[in-house]
Amino acid sequence: MQAIAQYQEMVSAHFNSLIAKREPNNLYEPIRYILSLGGKRLRPVLTLMAAEVFDVDCQKALAAATAVEVFHNFSLIHDDIMDDAPLRRGNETVHEKWNINTGILSGDAMLILAYQYFEGYEPVIFRDLAKLFSKTALEVCEGQQYDVDFETREDVTIPEYLKMIEFKTAVLVGAAMKMGAIVAETSQENADAIYDFGLNLGIAFQLQDDYLDAFGDPKTFGKQVGGDIIENKKTYLYLKAMEFAKPDEKEQLLHLFSIQPDDNTDKINSVKEMFHQTGASAATQTAIQHYTFKALETLDKMHISDDKKKLLKAFGENLMNRNV
Ligand code: IPE
Ligand code: IPE
Ligand code: MG
Ligand code: MG
Ligand code: MG
Repeated sequence: MQAIAQYQEMVSAHFNSLIAKREPNNLYEPIRYILSLGGKRLRPVLTLMAAEVFDVDCQKALAAATAVEVFHNFSLIHDDIMDDAPLRRGNETVHEKWNINTGILSGDAMLILAYQYFEGYEPVIFRDLAKLFSKTALEVCEGQQYDVDFETREDVTIPEYLKMIEFKTAVLVGAAMKMGAIVAETSQENADAIYDFGLNLGIAFQLQDDYLDAFGDPKTFGKQVGGDIIENKKTYLYLKAMEFAKPDEKEQLLHLFSIQPDDNTDKINSVKEMFHQTGASAATQTAIQHYTFKALETLDKMHISDDKKKLLKAFGENLMNRNV
């Protein structure tokens, strides 16, 4: 097993060799741009780690890891269009730097590119990877549609929210890990257990993403802080605030989530204040812990050495304490 930074470096180095000049420039330049902005490379790192957890050289999983990260970056370009987001990884979003049509087509091309990375695997592994990938990609689309549908609904429930984040975010984290298991040709039991580990970690990850969207430090977060509040996203913070609010607070929050002011500063500050006051912030932190611990429990079902379990456990715990 290697250190996280080494896995990240492997992925980035691989990207550099892949995204060399290709024409037309207006299609490929945005792709090179978004991939060069980096990010945490969480998903490909998990694919590489999973392969090594099941005793195969992570080089064998590099193509699958790349596919997952290219898909993730495609989903970010389209997500930023859908969320009207100006900033990504501390830089202009693709549709702001170029335009919406460019974001759509470069994103589409990335989805196809992602599939092509599987072509080098032998037939049985290829089939399993492609099957999992197609199922996951469709679920991500479903989750994204729920996310947008919820913006204009006032009756979203916590179970509906949890299903939405499971689809838009967690299934890809689960799939990233399961791809490592598929490449390693481990047992079905191990592959399913690592999927569940990733899935629960992914739910905690999105809860944390929602939390940081409101309370992250604008200097380091890399995205527009308060973006979810501007877009009236029905996050865990919002739903818990509505659950805990007194009748007059509830009315105020409903009002704030129905207006679209030119300057959002007051709206963001008032909503954040209410997230704290109602206890929604604390409840979100508790939920992040809950799903992280749920992930860690699935480690018991895996037939791997204690050292490897410890490594996965440390990774999960670190993720819980991230601030970007
Ligand atoms: C952002 O993902 C989208 C979510 C699912 C929350 P990351 O937080 O992994 O973004 P990068 O890749 O590190 O920029
Ligand atoms: C995005 O969720 C999930 C996908 C990209 C599929 P968010 O909309 O919360 O992600 P960020 O906060 O823009 O990164
Ligand atoms: Mg977004
Ligand atoms: Mg979104
Ligand atoms: Mg977000």
